Amino acid sequence: MEAMKVRRFCLPFALSLLLPVVFTASAANTTDNSSLIAKGKYVAIAADCGACHNAPHNAAEMGGGYIITSPLGNIFASNITPSKIAGIGDYTEEDFSRTVREGINKQGQHLYPAMPYTSYAKITDEDMHALYVYFMQGVKPSDKPAPVTALPFPFNMRSGMAVWNRFFADARPFQPRADVSEEVNRGDYLVNALAHCDTCHTPRNAFMGQDNSKALSGGNLGSWYAPNITPDKNSGIGGWRDEEIAQYLKTGHVAGKAQAAGPMAEAVEHSLQHLSDSDINAIVAYLRQIPAVHQGESVPRDGMGAPADTEARLRGLSQVDPGWKVFSSTCANCHQDNGQGNARYPSLFHNTVTGAPQADNLIATIIYGVHRDVNGEAIAMPGFGPDAFYTDRLTDQQIADVSNYVLKNLGNSALNVTAEQVKTVRENGKPPLIARLADPTVWGIAAIGLLILLGVIYSALRKRKHHAAA
Ligand code: HEC
Ligand code: HEC
Ligand code: HEC
Repeated sequence: MEAMKVRRFCLPFALSLLLPVVFTASAANTTDNSSLIAKGKYVAIAADCGACHNAPHNAAEMGGGYIITSPLGNIFASNITPSKIAGIGDYTEEDFSRTVREGINKQGQHLYPAMPYTSYAKITDEDMHALYVYFMQGVKPSDKPAPVTALPFPFNMRSGMAVWNRFFADARPFQPRADVSEEVNRGDYLVNALAHCDTCHTPRNAFMGQDNSKALSGGNLGSWYAPNITPDKNSGIGGWRDEEIAQYLKTGHVAGKAQAAGPMAEAVEHSLQHLSDSDINAIVAYLRQIPAVHQGESVPRDGMGAPADTEARLRGLSQVDPGWKVFSSTCANCHQDNGQGNARYPSLFHNTVTGAPQADNLIATIIYGVHRDVNGEAIAMPGFGPDAFYTDRLTDQQIADVSNYVLKNLGNSALNVTAEQVKTVRENGKPPLIARLADPTVWGIAAIGLLILLGVIYSALRKRKHHAAA
């Protein structure tokens, strides 16, 4: 504008007559683009690119640096601002689409599947175009490079990912089904492509590939466990009403049922709460009609437990229970003596975390707490793990004791938590087989052997394909 004004004064009168024409034309152009940018921004929010590419503590938007702890070591999300020095400023739309869909960046490097390209492969061309325009024109460039990922050998050989992709990545674009409604198709696209619910909720095999024969039936995320969300009445969320699922996705809270902590809280905070009601309803409609996966539970997770009988404990009869000691001094001021909570703090019975068939999320909640900003309101439970800041830290044994107290009195009494298990959750969960194989001292060799073996199978398959093509 400034430049234009100056120039207008210097221009001969005849030319200045033309200026309004030029100006209107370019204004029309920007409005066109701004709706495309807005669309791309919505796609980026639904796909939650910011979950990983926005580092916390007011760093540059999409500037990268967020650490994704993986069983193989720390992986840093890249700077994906349009900076030509540190970001993706020199990416063409083709480079961008290849990176997001196939996990191969402009430099030809294979990305680790911590970047959910296996889900993003299904993003439509139309959404990909809007996403590209948004990243190039709607995001501010930041010239600060993100830290470099250095996984241990052999996982630093990124070419190994080509073999993995061959087996576990499905690069086919989204295909709407003819036999279901438009709403269910939209939900399918959101769940399995943009919002990538599958990357967390679908179990993985020993090679960290998704086991889609049991889609959305529960996945291990290291410290946290993403539960079964298939329509099975007891193992999944078949007993939830449509409005309850929608409310959970929009707010992360359904009284007397469930709260969102950990990675789910992040998904709600950064992505799901910003989706349109019609998109949330489409997700619910899709989840309703996927195959139910039953895993043996006879009671739903949110149907376990009852208010604890605190009489005897208050009279000192069971002072021997070390879990009660921790509970009464650390948890009861918010969740109440008998665990029923109040308007602000959730009940610890009829709670999917205490009634779950595995204690991971209970342990992780006690270690890390709950943090979720929804509709401008902060919901917070402090963490009590070794990094606890505002609260007294609990030892692994104390966390095991209080978990057992909660489970025995308020939740799934069949479970028993050990200090060892708390340590494992704290140290990011049981690593999958492929990472255990990479233990450098003994099994490193086996892992390399495995990769070579996969490489051999891969080239054999390729030869077969070439033969078939010839
Ligand atoms: C769950 C975490 C996560 C999400 C969500 C995510 N990314 Fe990434 N992304 C990563 C990680 C980690 C890397 C670096 C991977 C590596 O080093 O192999 C990466 C790398 C990239 C790169 C490559 C940059 C380069 O210079 O090599 C691009 C481009 C990219 N992401 C774009 C996106 C876009 C666009 C979205 C949303 C549609 C998105 N990412 C969502 C984790 C994520
Ligand atoms: C980054 C991983 C991640 C993503 C992505 C994710 N979830 Fe979750 N989800 C979790 C975890 C972990 C929990 C358990 C949270 C807790 O109990 O505090 C959870 C809990 C849930 C629950 C509650 C289940 C219960 O029994 O309490 C529902 C419903 C759910 N997710 C649906 C979805 C849907 C639908 C999507 C996609 C739109 C999605 N999630 C995306 C990790 C994820
Ligand atoms: C300062 C208050 C406070 C204290 C102390 C506290 N909590 Fe919480 N707790 C909360 C809040 C707030 C939530 C989340 C409510 C929501 O998400 O809507 C929560 C949620 C939970 C959940 C559900 C988590 C989920 O993902 O669904 C469990 C389980 C839990 N607390 C257990 C405990 C235990 C065990 C202790 C003691 C070691 C404890 N809390 C101490 C406030 C507290």
